[in-house]
Amino acid sequence: MENLTPKEIVSYLDQYVIGQNNAKKTIAVALRNRYRRMQLPAEIQQDVMPKNILMIGSTGIGKTEIARRLSKMMELPFIKIEASKYTEVGFVGRDVESMIRDLASISLKLVRESQNSKNGDKIEAYIENKIIEKLLPPLPQGVSEQKTDEYEASFLRMQKKFENGDLDHLVIKIEMPTNSVDMSNSGLPPQMIDVQESISKVLGGLNKKGKEKEVTVKEAKTILAQEASQELFDEDKLKELALKRVEEGGIIFIDEIDKIAVPSGSQGRQDPSKEGVQRDLLPIVEGSTVQTKLGLVNTDHILFISAGAFHLSKPSDLIPELQGRFPLRVELDSLTEDVLYRILTEPKNSLITQYKALMEVEGVDLEFTEDALRTIAYYSFLANEKTEDIGARRLHTVMEKILEEISFEADEHSGEIIKVDEVLVKDKLDKVVEDEDTTRYIL
Ligand SMILES: Nc1ncnc2c1ncn2[C@@H]1O[C@H](COP(=O)(O)OP(=O)(O)OP(=O)(O)O)[C@@H](O)[C@H]1O
Ligand SMILES: [Mg+2]
Repeated sequence: MENLTPKEIVSYLDQYVIGQNNAKKTIAVALRNRYRRMQLPAEIQQDVMPKNILMIGSTGIGKTEIARRLSKMMELPFIKIEASKYTEVGFVGRDVESMIRDLASISLKLVRESQNSKNGDKIEAYIENKIIEKLLPPLPQGVSEQKTDEYEASFLRMQKKFENGDLDHLVIKIEMPTNSVDMSNSGLPPQMIDVQESISKVLGGLNKKGKEKEVTVKEAKTILAQEASQELFDEDKLKELALKRVEEGGIIFIDEIDKIAVPSGSQGRQDPSKEGVQRDLLPIVEGSTVQTKLGLVNTDHILFISAGAFHLSKPSDLIPELQGRFPLRVELDSLTEDVLYRILTEPKNSLITQYKALMEVEGVDLEFTEDALRTIAYYSFLANEKTEDIGARRLHTVMEKILEEISFEADEHSGEIIKVDEVLVKDKLDKVVEDEDTTRYIL
């Protein structure tokens, strides 16, 4: 995953996001540049900084969708956050540094998961032994050889049963893991989180044995998986790996960045905290160190991608220092009728596929004629033009309007084929779209 070429990244995104080629390309290149950087000699490597990206485009045209798909694809620590959720340091709320702490936690989770899947065999063996020992307590020291042989034979028999799942229904007593509460999201200052972690470690050390609980073997398998991974891997080593990953591969997607811009000429009743958040973002985007549960994370090489509709404000309404830290600008295109049609039909799990699947649950076979699909795209485009442009989200409202009744009565039509054709679509929408006012309310 880490060395996908730009073309491969774009073609992955193509499966889900229609058009927006510039944005896809820019992001793909930025990701590839990190891989290129890693191949350089150490002295240049330190000086190659990531080029952060600002995506600009009106609502509903795929900004967040691109990020969402990227995050699914990548095995890099990735987090998507909303700029509007943060407050200036000193105000009540989440400070911007918490995004780095969150990213660090995600990195740790990733590293742990990849360790677990690499060592699946070891973990399974650990779980199997643990459970069989519960059912078949080991013999005391110094018993006769005959006893030991017998024991081993029954152990093997048990193993066989375990592997066949014959033991799944049995009930055994196991210790529940002592979960330390994850406080990193609580909005406490980082120093406090450290203290909290140390305390829970000490407490954990004191009563290492968690509470015993009766569970079935089947449930025990999942519960013991966590214990196995803790017993088998060195926690400090994992943290070290996670720290490296987050510093060298971390990506932060800052959505709705336009919401913290202060439009020029609108002073007075603006929220003073917005500019504060921007100022707090500066050092993080530029590169600074943040205390996290992995230790100090240096943000120099974390890639920041920000996105915003910039309807009410412009990128130039951000404070200049912040503008300068997002040198790559991409504008996303607004959606044409043709693109709307493709969004409706092409992506994996497109809207049409979704509605068909939903109706299938009721035993109804929903079919759309080609004309109907074109007409849906046409009306969606029209509605976007006549009123506000809400991009592909318009397809959702239009589809709901068309399928309103079918959806309501679906259970009565089980086993039938329902065809949605041009006539039906026109019938539902013609009146609505004709009049601008009704369009405003209904679509
Ligand atoms: N280019 C596209 N290809 C495929 N689907 C799209 C595209 N653009 C939008 N969509 C669909 O529309 C929905 C809304 O898009 P998205 O969340 O990306 O909007 P956005 O650009 O982030 O808007 P906002 O500025 O309001 O956050 C998504 O769920 C997605 O299914
Ligand atoms: Mg969005």
